[in-house]
Amino acid sequence: MLILNKTAGVFFKPSRRKIYEFLGGFHFHPGKLFLHKLVLGIETSCDDTAAAVVDEAGNVLGEAIHSQTEVHLKTGGIIPPVAQQLHRENIQRIVQEALSASEVSPSELSAIATTVKPGLALSLGVGLSFSLQLVDQFKKPFIPIHHMEAHALTIRLTNKVEFPFLVLLISGGHCLLALARGVSDFLLLGKSLDIAPGDMLDKVARRLCLIKHPECSTMSGGKAIEHLAKQGNRLHFDFQPPMQRAKNCDFSFSGLQHVIDKMIMQKEKEEGIEQGQILSSAADIAAAVQHTVACHVAKRTHRAILFCKQRGLLHQSNAVLVVSGGVASNLYIRKALEIVTNATQSTLLCPPPRLCTDNGVMIAWNGVERLRAGLGILHNTEGIRYEPKEVIYRVD
Ligand code: KG4
Ligand code: ZN
Repeated sequence: MLILNKTAGVFFKPSRRKIYEFLGGFHFHPGKLFLHKLVLGIETSCDDTAAAVVDEAGNVLGEAIHSQTEVHLKTGGIIPPVAQQLHRENIQRIVQEALSASEVSPSELSAIATTVKPGLALSLGVGLSFSLQLVDQFKKPFIPIHHMEAHALTIRLTNKVEFPFLVLLISGGHCLLALARGVSDFLLLGKSLDIAPGDMLDKVARRLCLIKHPECSTMSGGKAIEHLAKQGNRLHFDFQPPMQRAKNCDFSFSGLQHVIDKMIMQKEKEEGIEQGQILSSAADIAAAVQHTVACHVAKRTHRAILFCKQRGLLHQSNAVLVVSGGVASNLYIRKALEIVTNATQSTLLCPPPRLCTDNGVMIAWNGVERLRAGLGILHNTEGIRYEPKEVIYRVD
């Protein structure tokens, strides 16, 4: 769940002692020769503290991540000050782990890239503040990263994909369809008018109390729904995909969530159980919810592919659809998208699951892409602020 907050970018400064501790704990490896440019990427936009070192050729030299999912599962959602505190507690260790694993010393880096937008203000602030201290200390260029751009470009690290390509980002905080025309050139084709699909799946999973289910207690809501759906029969419930008549590529999930909530309430009455207990029909509901989300996402994506092909924005015979974000790890949703790409003579590409969710590699890689293209490399970070709200995507 990503709650966008408009708070101005005032960020926390790690103490001088912490920075010295960080530097003191670092093992330098003099004498090594790196042929490629090296970028350290730092991600703290939501609930993952992540860092990675990636070279110009796309080799991941070191990475580390600390996920806050377990804590937020217990509180039933992300509480920004809690997320901030956890980032503060972990950022130094995570950056150090990524650098140590890569055997690259901070002085050998070509640049430091950090997510500055969009995301939770309090979380973004921790990563930015820590990065700026490093930038200052080691006199490195700084590359501010847009989190969505990083998700969209990840595929170019794992596959040989040329621009233009269509990208579908579906996660707990994101839901958009965009045409990627260049490293920082995106045409927004559609977005969710309300909540993101992962947010909806998390809410449904919470309403179904799946955290109490022995097989799902440590899973994110979306993963729990996918897991349970395999044991259910989707035909026992009939939820209609939203926006069937809308002649655009936008999405909507909160109306569907409301319908599902009402259905769960009705089932609880029928089964004579209190809210907080698991319904005997939970697996059937999960299967029907997953199917409806898959249909909705697939139909909107189908429209986008047809639109792009009609306008000559995508190749006629070898158009590429890239799907990323936490929800993209759902194999049922991927199957639905595969039907769409097969029907439109397009190719479906997804980064591996660990690169679909938030990670440091995608930020470092975005830094490499920008470094190679000579875009947005700052040698003076004065006045740099994080921007919780999403702003760079252009609607033509
Ligand atoms: O990209 P991500 O790690 O973080 C952001 O939201 O930015 O995505 C997390 C979201 C959560 O809402 C989670 O429930 C959903 O992705 N998710 C899934 C699956 N695994 C994670 N949704 C559907 N099926 C899955 N297998
Ligand atoms: Zn993300």
